[in-house]
Amino acid sequence: MKLFIDTADIAEIERIAGWGVLAGVTTNPSLLAAVEGSEDDIYKRICELVDGPISAEVTADTAKAMVKEGRRLAGIHPNIVVKLPTCAPGLTATAELAQDGIPVNMTLCFTASQALLAASAGARYVSPFVGRYDDIGNDGIEALREVVDALFATEYDVQVITASVRSPVHVQEAAKMGADIATIPPKVFDQMLAHPLTDKGLEKFNADAAARAAKTKGTRKK
Ligand code: G3P
Repeated sequence: MKLFIDTADIAEIERIAGWGVLAGVTTNPSLLAAVEGSEDDIYKRICELVDGPISAEVTADTAKAMVKEGRRLAGIHPNIVVKLPTCAPGLTATAELAQDGIPVNMTLCFTASQALLAASAGARYVSPFVGRYDDIGNDGIEALREVVDALFATEYDVQVITASVRSPVHVQEAAKMGADIATIPPKVFDQMLAHPLTDKGLEKFNADAAARAAKTKGTRKK
């Protein structure tokens, strides 16, 4: 499973990209609203930092306007993926952009039925939201599994992006069921990496290495 980062924060993208683990980036209007700078400059900088699909979401609300905005976003960089909502105008716009060869990520997907419609319209990626489904008392991981199973049984050339990820457990479960991608907030990347036994073990290795170095130094003096 490939790991994407779900943020528009350049410093955070640079930090996690430095780990060598990123295969792509997803953004959305809320994530963009949380950072300073022009939208286009942010997308261009992200494309410099990560060599992979970079989702840029449209804010238009009619199919015609979505197509126009999507074409403009796709023109920013060859790695831009146009992100469209899973609704009727979004499907219409996806079909039109897909015909032009522009990759689309259909977002705000919650069910296998929605995912099948997205794939059928020609979406290259579909993004089931796990955390937000949990938030309303449902089982987001089970909903994701239904999407993965349904699409796996079809002929569509579509990849599942596990979105609205809130914990390392979401990422692990997505990987185990065979989801193609998980898009992960920076905080969850930190949670995935951290382990007290790793810290404790490293502290001991460093102390033993220092003790040995001190001993060797002492021996040389004699
Ligand atoms: O990018 C879409 C998705 O990952 C949003 O996540 O945490 O706002 O539900 P969240």
